[in-house]
Amino acid sequence: MRKGILLAGGTGSRLYPMTQVVCKQLLPIYDKPMIYYPLVTLMQANIRDVLIICTPHDLSLFQALLGDGGRWGLKLQYAEQASPEGLAQALMIAESFLAGEACALILGDNVFYGQHLTANLNRAWQTQSGATVFGYHVANPHAYGVIEFNDAGHVLSIEEKPLHPRSHYAMPGLYFFDGRAAMFAKTVVPSARGELEIVDVIHHYLALGELRVDILGRGTAWLDTGTPDAMAEATQFVAAIEKRQGLKINCPEEVAFHNGWITASQLAELAQPLLKSGYGEYLLGLLDKQVFDEM
Ligand code: DAU
Repeated sequence: MRKGILLAGGTGSRLYPMTQVVCKQLLPIYDKPMIYYPLVTLMQANIRDVLIICTPHDLSLFQALLGDGGRWGLKLQYAEQASPEGLAQALMIAESFLAGEACALILGDNVFYGQHLTANLNRAWQTQSGATVFGYHVANPHAYGVIEFNDAGHVLSIEEKPLHPRSHYAMPGLYFFDGRAAMFAKTVVPSARGELEIVDVIHHYLALGELRVDILGRGTAWLDTGTPDAMAEATQFVAAIEKRQGLKINCPEEVAFHNGWITASQLAELAQPLLKSGYGEYLLGLLDKQVFDEM
C-alpha cells in the first residue's frame, strides 16, 4: 500500500490567539477542518495508509475527529512530535512506519486544488527512485523554499526562505521520497534558525541527480494558511468555488466514494450525523449526481 505522512504539529504561533488552545490544522477553512484538505490530497494520490504526526497535546483531538480512518476506507495511525524541531524530523519519526518504503509527505496546513493535480500526483509515484517536489509560481517567494532553474528547466539550487530569491518558484509542502528519505533525514543538522530543514533532505537527492521538480501550473491552486489573512483568503476561495459549482473542494467522503473505497450505503450512513449543516445533504446528493470530471 502507498504510504503517506501528514505533518500537523508546530506551535501555530503566527495565528495566536486562535491557536493557543487548538492547533491550526483543526481550525476551519470554510466548511471543513483544515486537515481535511491535505488528507484528501493524499487520497487523490491513491494513498490510504497514513501516519499523522502532531503534538502530544493534539493527538487525542485528531483521533476524535478522524479515528482510524476506516469510515473513509483509510488506515490512519498517529505519532507524536514532542517539539517542532523541523520538517525533516517527520521522516525520522515515521521511520518504522515507512520500513524503508517510498512515501509522500504533506504539511497539514497546505491546501491544493485543481483539475490537473491528480495527474501531477500520479506522475510523482511513477518514478521508482529519487524524489519529486513541486514548483509553484508565487508573487512573494521569500516565505518559502525557492527553486532556481537554468534556461533548460534544470534545477540549480533550492534555498529555504532566501532574502534574495533566485526565482518566483516556491516549493509547496508536498514531497515524494523513495525509501532513503529517513536515512538522509538522519544526517541533517539544525540550520541557522535551529530547524532540521526538509530542504537539506532534498539536497541529498539533488546532489545525486535524483531530484525531479514538477511544475504545478496556473490551473492548480496552492494556498497558504499560515497567517490570519491567508486563512481568510483560503476560506473565501473555497467558499466562492463551492457555491458557484455546487461541488465541494477536498471532501474526504466524496473522494473515498469516487475511489470505490466506500459503498453507497456507507456514504449514506456517513451523511446522517451531518444533515443539519448541509454537509450531509451534499453527501446524500452524491448518490444520484452525475459529475463528469476527474477528481
Ligand atoms: O508551505 C510550504 C513551505 O513549508 C515550504 O515552501 C518550505 O520550504 C517549508 O520549510 C515550509 O515552510 P514554513 O515556513 O511554512 O514552515 P513552518 O515552520 O511554518 O511549518 C509548516 C507546517 O508544519 C506548519 O503547519 C507547522 C508544521 N510543523 C512545522 C515544524 C517546523 C510541524 O508539524 N513540525 C515542525 O517541526
